[in-house]
Amino acid sequence: MCGIVGYTGFQDAYQVVINGLRRLEYRGYDSAGVVLEQPHHFDVAKTKGKVDDLVAISKDFVGRAHVGMGHTRWATHGVPSDNNSHPHLSNNGKIALVHNGIIENYDVLKIMLTEKGFTFKSETDTEVLVNLIQYFMDTHPEMDFPTAVRSALNEVYGAYAITVLHDDFPGVLVVARLGSPLAIGLGNNEYFIASDASPFVEFTKEAVYLEEGHMATISLEKGVDIRNIKDNVKITPQIQELKLSLEQIEKGGYEHFMLKEIFEQPKSILDTLRGRLLVDEGIIKMAGIWDHLERINQAQKITIIACGTSWHAGLIGEYLIEEFARIPVEVEYASEFRYRNPIITEKDIVIAISQSGETADTMAAIKMAKEKGAFIYGICNVVDSSIARITDAGSYTHAGPEIGVASTKAFTAQLTILALIALKLGKHNGHLSNQEFMRLITELDTIPQKVEEVLEGTHQITKEIARKFVDAQNFLYLGRGYNFPAALEGALKLKEISYIHAEGYPAAEMKHGPIALIDENMPIVIIAPKQGHYDKIVSNVQEIKARKGKVIAVVNRGDTQVADMADYVIEFPETSECFSPIVASVPLQLLAYYIAVFRGANVDQPRNLAKSVTVE
Ligand code: M6R
Repeated sequence: MCGIVGYTGFQDAYQVVINGLRRLEYRGYDSAGVVLEQPHHFDVAKTKGKVDDLVAISKDFVGRAHVGMGHTRWATHGVPSDNNSHPHLSNNGKIALVHNGIIENYDVLKIMLTEKGFTFKSETDTEVLVNLIQYFMDTHPEMDFPTAVRSALNEVYGAYAITVLHDDFPGVLVVARLGSPLAIGLGNNEYFIASDASPFVEFTKEAVYLEEGHMATISLEKGVDIRNIKDNVKITPQIQELKLSLEQIEKGGYEHFMLKEIFEQPKSILDTLRGRLLVDEGIIKMAGIWDHLERINQAQKITIIACGTSWHAGLIGEYLIEEFARIPVEVEYASEFRYRNPIITEKDIVIAISQSGETADTMAAIKMAKEKGAFIYGICNVVDSSIARITDAGSYTHAGPEIGVASTKAFTAQLTILALIALKLGKHNGHLSNQEFMRLITELDTIPQKVEEVLEGTHQITKEIARKFVDAQNFLYLGRGYNFPAALEGALKLKEISYIHAEGYPAAEMKHGPIALIDENMPIVIIAPKQGHYDKIVSNVQEIKARKGKVIAVVNRGDTQVADMADYVIEFPETSECFSPIVASVPLQLLAYYIAVFRGANVDQPRNLAKSVTVE
């Protein structure tokens, strides 16, 4: 949801900002802009389109300035257009601002400012904020720039990360955050600002992550001065060492980040298990959960809240926890949970799952559950993200940075963590015998290898199958038990990146409606591992074939029954049913990827989407 980059130092600000915007383009990519500080004016370029489009109109900015900032946008207020792109300038042209988030009361403020004579060139909430800052400075001549920003922010509701420049305060960047992330990179005689650390990882390993409700005034002369927005109390910066490496955020020879991330899964699952699954010792060691095992085991119920792919992981979590730990689990869309009046008490546990750790709906749902006294356990991929910080305890999925907008390796890492939690709880509360626990953890240990095998074994065949379905207009994905949520996830992957309409269903539900859609033009992906309800799936495939549907069967290696009836077969190694979604999801990711590639879609930056959804 919009990426922000800012810079002050000795380097060419334009290059730093543009390179940084390219790294943040996953956050939003419908428009981009850059502003450079010049003596007594700003150089501004902004356009609808990608960072490449911005570069095309601003090439001659190279080498002009040492202070600047940029923005890559995911539209909220107003269509993607040159005018609505950031930066936005105040009416007097002295203040420039880039913003990630939503100013919810922008309409009343806009009316107030219009009555005072301000005019607006864009439909954005951001232009209201920049003019509000000007208004404070106009009406309070004694007010300095940071104070004016702070005063304006105290008038707005909503979520924001902002960076602001003022023509009369050269070399000073004012930044602030509430609900949207912002990191400050501390270089040697230079400072970087960015929505995440990726734009400055090659320049410094030291960063300060701005906390909720804090702002900072940054200049080479005075360093970083952090204050509380509400009451201007000075805050001591907490400097963190960055673990991120350049290699992790580059494509490494792959055509797309998504393909790289699909192929990283053996490693990302292994990294998620590392240090936690100790098969030889017969234990699962999870620092996050250890101190809270009793509380979790005594929970009245566990509610899992998440959105999108993370919600699909949550559904599989429900199956895992109920099967092995016998604790009742409900899975809710965070966006629904937060707006109804759910029954949550201090006896409840809420597990919040989020790759980015920034999803606005999940954040709001957590806050609501916290107010009701629930204990909140977070499963996040992004270290130190907002969700990781506001939860009571949690576990990181060590999947590494996921840059492709369509989630792949974060999903399988989430499933891995959920399996660990379920097995750990089941062992602790006695629902899982030692023998069964040992069998399952021994098997879980083999999953990275099985994912490696499925990548090798299915890459080519899924590519060939994908070619046959480039012109499909609809897809059905079916699965039973643990693989019903895997079917939902397979369908989501396909629609997100190929724009083909796809729906996931429990296979048995087909006869209650979706069967009406089946004819010779309907491709149906059916996940049918040997374990679970194989014989039932066999009947479902027969029902599909009787209606001439095209079956793409995702089956265990050596399968004959379903495979013989299917039009196309993708094989994956056998594993316990509870772990099969981890392995079976991989060819579904590849299928979606290649269909999208063959349709000429921008796989890493699908239309209308953004990586972290920091607005409602
Ligand atoms: O960062 P989160 O896991 O909280 O994100 C939730 C969804 O926005 C996300 O999973 C979305 O559905 C992805 N585009 C899936 O590929």
